[in-house]
Amino acid sequence: MTKKAKMIVDKDFTIGEVDSRLYGSFIEHLGRAVYGGIYEPEHPQADEQGFRTDVLELVKGLQVPIVRYPGGNFVSGYNWEDGVGPIEQRKKRLELAWRTVEPNLVGLNEFMDWCRKANTEAMMAVNLGTRGPDQARELVEYSNHKSGSYWSDLRIQHGYKDPHNIKTWCLGNEMDGPWQIGSKTAAEYGRIACETAKVMKWVDPSIELVACGSSGLGMATFPEWEATVLEHTYDHVEYISLHQYYGNRDNDSANFLAQSMGMDKFIHTVVSTCDYIQAKKRGKKKIHLSFDEWNVWYHSNDADRKIEPWSIAPPQLEDIYNHEDALLVGCMLISMLKRADRVKMACMAQLVNVIAPIMTVNGGAAWKQTIYYPYMHTSVFGRGTVLVPLIQSPKYDAKDYTDVSYLEAVAVHNEEKSEVTIFAVNRHLEEALPLELDLRSFGASRIIEHIVLESDDLKAANTADAPDNVKPHHGGSAAVTDSGQVQATLSKASWNVIRLKLV
Ligand code: AHR
Repeated sequence: MTKKAKMIVDKDFTIGEVDSRLYGSFIEHLGRAVYGGIYEPEHPQADEQGFRTDVLELVKGLQVPIVRYPGGNFVSGYNWEDGVGPIEQRKKRLELAWRTVEPNLVGLNEFMDWCRKANTEAMMAVNLGTRGPDQARELVEYSNHKSGSYWSDLRIQHGYKDPHNIKTWCLGNEMDGPWQIGSKTAAEYGRIACETAKVMKWVDPSIELVACGSSGLGMATFPEWEATVLEHTYDHVEYISLHQYYGNRDNDSANFLAQSMGMDKFIHTVVSTCDYIQAKKRGKKKIHLSFDEWNVWYHSNDADRKIEPWSIAPPQLEDIYNHEDALLVGCMLISMLKRADRVKMACMAQLVNVIAPIMTVNGGAAWKQTIYYPYMHTSVFGRGTVLVPLIQSPKYDAKDYTDVSYLEAVAVHNEEKSEVTIFAVNRHLEEALPLELDLRSFGASRIIEHIVLESDDLKAANTADAPDNVKPHHGGSAAVTDSGQVQATLSKASWNVIRLKLV
């Protein structure tokens, strides 16, 4: 057995409040996310609007507070007007981002109905690829203005008397990426984002805006992009976005599990860049972070290259996630919680079928992928105040990172419920890790439960035929000692949720 790890948390040493929107997700008009995912009128469990109720139940289990929509790369060629009004009059369009045909059977109003059914809210993206301020302000007017203007009255005519009151808006998507329809230089984007933000807020001053940051840590223009974009938009936006995906392409699991250290660094650099611009502007306002695309994404890359273009809802980006993917997803969630002071929103990309925690068969079953579990556990139990985690752990060196802590962990204090929850990953692939947890000023506590997600096979996955192949159990070893400390043994390569009741 490896040397033990120690973790100290104290009620008075906090990082920040968890904004519930940290547990957001993403539905793009891509692959089978919408058609065959959330919407499938022919499915036996579809409701009167065609939404799959089995999928809705799985979404509700995640307690998703916000869902980004309609893209992604898709939004940069999208005319939102194509998706409203009588469905039989809607046009099929060639969709250039993913080379499919978009039937426009689901659009803004249907998505807002789905959000209400899923107990979530929308984070709406506007097209700054092929379009600009004019269509963005019209979309805000259609969505949020009560009545008495052309676009708001059109919404009413479409059957939606009450405004949708969409609060959070993204100013385009990944505008630094050469793959993006209408990609831009940082200065070009900064200018159009600023002018778009102004008119959107003139229509509805209550909205909050997210400017596009770099589409990944590896982009050549990172972090100069963030600095330039914020120079232009600082007065008009509240957030800057971050996107990051990882993959175990070399089948080096120890190195794969270390990748969240890159996410830590990414967050740190973007926070520093925001604060640098704040200093230059002599401003009071702090720009916060919206990590609105994050996940593991690589399993489906080869299959996607073979998909014939111009079909409706082909099976694109259908990663089947395994046990080690769930561990890295757990580490990524911990990375974001550790910066809850600045990361206020985040969206697991995506929600259904497309690099997603929920999978479906058209006309058939819906099930939970391995990554569903760390996402659900943090969303359900990780609300409250994040505590500063003082951690002493044995370490290892991996290909991309040295001094990788075997223990990755964070604790969240929910004052209302008198609970402290520890989320912890043991990155060791062969050995269990004894953990000693000192709760300092919290005083006495008892264990509510110690949930463990473990598997002898890092590549084990859930499928339609074996949906429970990898699932958590409640038999973890955490116990409170006579001296009031918590001791647990974290199984090799495991995700752990230790829930404590303060007494
Ligand atoms: O989430 C899949 C795609 O990844 C999104 O459309 C895009 O923004 C990113 O490159």
